[in-house]
Amino acid sequence: MPSQRGSARRRQRGVLLAGIAILLLALVLAAVLASALTRGKKEESLEPLRWQGRGTTRNLREIVLGRCYGYLAERRAELGDKDCLKIWESLKDAFIHKNPCNATTEDYQPLMKLASHPIPCNKENFLTSLSIIYCTLYLISQSLFWSKTNDLVHLYTKSSRRFLTLEDTFLGYMFDGISWCGDPSAPGINYESCPKWSECEGNPGSVFWKMASKMFAEAACGVVQVMLNGSIETGAFRSSSIFGSVEILNLNPDKVSEVQIWLMHDIGGPQSESCSGYSIKKLKNILEERNFKITCEDNYRPVQLLQCVHNPDHPDCSLCTNSTEAP
Ligand code: APR
Repeated sequence: MPSQRGSARRRQRGVLLAGIAILLLALVLAAVLASALTRGKKEESLEPLRWQGRGTTRNLREIVLGRCYGYLAERRAELGDKDCLKIWESLKDAFIHKNPCNATTEDYQPLMKLASHPIPCNKENFLTSLSIIYCTLYLISQSLFWSKTNDLVHLYTKSSRRFLTLEDTFLGYMFDGISWCGDPSAPGINYESCPKWSECEGNPGSVFWKMASKMFAEAACGVVQVMLNGSIETGAFRSSSIFGSVEILNLNPDKVSEVQIWLMHDIGGPQSESCSGYSIKKLKNILEERNFKITCEDNYRPVQLLQCVHNPDHPDCSLCTNSTEAP
């Protein structure tokens, strides 16, 4: 009898141990499964959308704030009070956490308002201006537009303060050459990639630069210039460019009296188009229809001299060279 009771107790203990072991195994399996599932979900939400363009510029905040304070340090008198922190916040609010193909002009309206300032015309305004504070670089500058001459045009405006491109204004200066876009996943900014302009129309860069270019063109007055690239095979003027599709359409014929075209060629490079070329004729027609006076000059000499800094021995850089004028 005692041996029968002992074996029954052993069996009971065995069943109990087996039950505990099964329970423990089930718990471990459940934990492993749960962790695998949550890790999968986390990885999914951390993965930013993929685009073909370069991602948001690293240290965007610091760059924007640095440029903002730097510009104000030089030209606060012309700009009045500007709040750099608010400017950064309004840029961030315009794109953070958003799908970068859904940018709208409404997103950037607050930023434009905070960073905008009067862009003065040349002499007429200068004479009628009552405030001595306005007798500054801005007021005696002429608006200079450009297309496919980014480096050259800015080399020129750095050496001749008579001319002002969008990128020399407060708004254009702060955002020139940097990239930004949002992403629905955390942290809301995509540093890996952003849409190229060709990928979707409503991308942050395209929406921002079109708005800024429109404002810049609307403000232009007096005689304005545009520097185009005559070494481009597909033509110096493209109606799909920002200059062709936004700026010329927003020049005000009541304020702008004349448009001067400077058609630059790379020194020693192809002379694909001159002032009598096809795309320039197209541009002249558009401008004439809008009642602007137009002139065109091949290789505007002051700018060519800057190109000659890198090519001093080229025949085009000899002191006896004449540029051709074709109004
Ligand atoms: N993808 C990315 N960036 C682009 C694209 C694009 N498809 N097209 C234009 N950009 C941006 C780039 O930053 C480039 O340096 O616009 C700049 C100018 O492009 P261009 O084709 O050289 O010229 P355009 O489109 O005519 O724009 C220049 O707009 O920025 C204003 O006032 C400025 O007159 C100037 C004009």
